[in-house]
Amino acid sequence: MALRFEVLGRFNRARAAQLTLPHFVCQTPLFMPVGTQGTIKGLTNDQLEEIGCQIILGNTYHLALRPTSELIDELGGLHKFMNWPRALLTDSGGFQMVSLLHLADITEKGVTFQSPVDGKPMLLTPEESIQIQNRIGADIIMALDDVVRTTITGPRIEEATYRTLRWIDRCIAAHRRPNEQNLFGIVQGGLDPVLRDICVRGLVERNLPGYAIGGLSGGEDKDSFWRVVAQCTAALPEDKPRYVMGVGYPLDIVVCSALGADMYDCVYPTRTARFGTALVPEGVLKLKHQAMANDTRPIDPSCNCMVCKKYSRAYIHCLVTKDAMGSQLLSYHNLFFMMKLSSDLHASIVRGRFPEFVCKFLQKMFPEGD
Ligand code: GUN
Ligand code: ZN
Repeated sequence: MALRFEVLGRFNRARAAQLTLPHFVCQTPLFMPVGTQGTIKGLTNDQLEEIGCQIILGNTYHLALRPTSELIDELGGLHKFMNWPRALLTDSGGFQMVSLLHLADITEKGVTFQSPVDGKPMLLTPEESIQIQNRIGADIIMALDDVVRTTITGPRIEEATYRTLRWIDRCIAAHRRPNEQNLFGIVQGGLDPVLRDICVRGLVERNLPGYAIGGLSGGEDKDSFWRVVAQCTAALPEDKPRYVMGVGYPLDIVVCSALGADMYDCVYPTRTARFGTALVPEGVLKLKHQAMANDTRPIDPSCNCMVCKKYSRAYIHCLVTKDAMGSQLLSYHNLFFMMKLSSDLHASIVRGRFPEFVCKFLQKMFPEGD
């Protein structure tokens, strides 16, 4: 195992912890921005450090296609290649192929897809996914899982659950760097509590350094989503990190943290920035809106980020859609907002003030009389 997970404080099921990874000592709950081609669109590494980003997520699928994992390995690993001194996490690639390429086909061997480079059929097996992730060298690597949308029902969910368990053994056997890289297993099972239970128990038996809850944020209703998270966190070990994949909105992160989850990743803060939307305590602020044209206030007067200290809504309104700087400034503010949310969650749990934090968070987002 290449990590240490020390719980510093709890409130009911919520926990604040220190997660020590090979490249960085992290505080949880934490949010990980998603970088696809080895970068977070529109932000420099210095800016990411400045806003308190602890772990960046990279996608095996994108990196394996270009620049290729062999080249990253040759150049000394992804940390060195992208000059990022803090922690990195790579996802296994299967989910990206299934969600990006509708032509992907999953069999017992692995995920078959058409190469976007030359159109040739390619196969990503659990062994290859781990081999690629070993070359890339992230602090946390993810098992190849069989992901099905939660809105699908029937025998396919059962097949995916058992296949994910068979594949975890192939991933464990293929992992060559267990002392430098932490392999996380991913709980699947759709919205079926029996299948989720089988998958959690199976993964916990394998005694992995950490666990992820997968297959969510795919259009299921909030009640089902939170129920799956609650069931999985209750069954996962107390002394290992729990990562909810592809989540999410600020409110989801607060709820999942209350349910005992520790780590999150989502493209939402940066994607929504590119559409001209800022995250604020009240919810969202649409900078494209005509009302912003002569608004001299910062995006969020209570925000201490560089963008809110230096620029007005009117200026960003003017840039947005016309210059890349508009979405860059919004991405900076939005990621700062997510980092601040993470550190506020951490601090409130450590100080025994988690309920007060949640109440304030909800009061701002859903004010009385609205
Ligand atoms: N990203 C969001 N959800 C998932 C999932 O279920 N599996 C993987 N591998 N990545 C994800
Ligand atoms: Zn700001």
